[in-house]
Amino acid sequence: MANMSTGSAKSLRRPLIAGNWKMNLGLKDSVDLVRQLVDGAPAGGSGPEIMVAPPFTALTVVAELLKGKSIKLGAQNMHPEASGAFTGEVSPSQLLDVGCSHVILGHSERRRMFGDTDAFIKKKLQAAVKLKLVPVLCIGETLEERESNRTFRVLETQIKGALEGFAPTDLAQLVVAYEPVWAIGTGKTATPDQAQQAHAFVRQQLKGLYGEGWAQSVRILYGGSVTPENVDELMSQPDVDGALVGGASLKPVGFLRIINFKAGTKASA
Ligand code: 13P
Repeated sequence: MANMSTGSAKSLRRPLIAGNWKMNLGLKDSVDLVRQLVDGAPAGGSGPEIMVAPPFTALTVVAELLKGKSIKLGAQNMHPEASGAFTGEVSPSQLLDVGCSHVILGHSERRRMFGDTDAFIKKKLQAAVKLKLVPVLCIGETLEERESNRTFRVLETQIKGALEGFAPTDLAQLVVAYEPVWAIGTGKTATPDQAQQAHAFVRQQLKGLYGEGWAQSVRILYGGSVTPENVDELMSQPDVDGALVGGASLKPVGFLRIINFKAGTKASA
């Protein structure tokens, strides 16, 4: 893959560190974790924006603890319809009701295990932006796709499949998360160069759809085995604007270290 940098306006984008708890933690452990994050997060909302996405069952109790705090609350998924006979699903307004400001959409686990297609993800995105929920759109290639040199094609299809047809003003708050499927939960992180190449490609796609100014304003997070050990180098890349953290977001000390990443030490691009 060609090395690319987009002449990134990184300093204009506030980093976002997000924790995706997936199907983990009961109420007691959720409360314990959030209390420690609230106590340990940079004072006065300085530093990166922070978001946690607990399971649906813990949203209300976590929302209570986050009242008046700078840490944002997100959901891991939602249904695009406003209400109705959709057993087991949760609507955008229900998420707003419990205090969510963000929603993760199109996570590869949902695409792979629950049949979320680009078309369905687009409907969810439409519903999210209508209610001003910040969508965190996840994209990423499988190992097989990477090894057969289809990474960029897959990313392009996923981006265009979800975004085409939107006005940039509708997508004002959009966050994209590049999560290579082969790096999720495997301990096999993308190298900083691999992450940068993919992020730069994503930003080019956004530029092609909506122009340079808007593309430079969108935050692109990296996700896939992010740890306290590798976050600094990842965050040093010009187009890596944050992290979507799975396993390591369940451990308060480690997640706080990720929040307090030190970028700029080993930039390679
Ligand atoms: P891990 O950090 O556990 O690899 O998970 C990444 C992820 O899927 C976040 O959405």
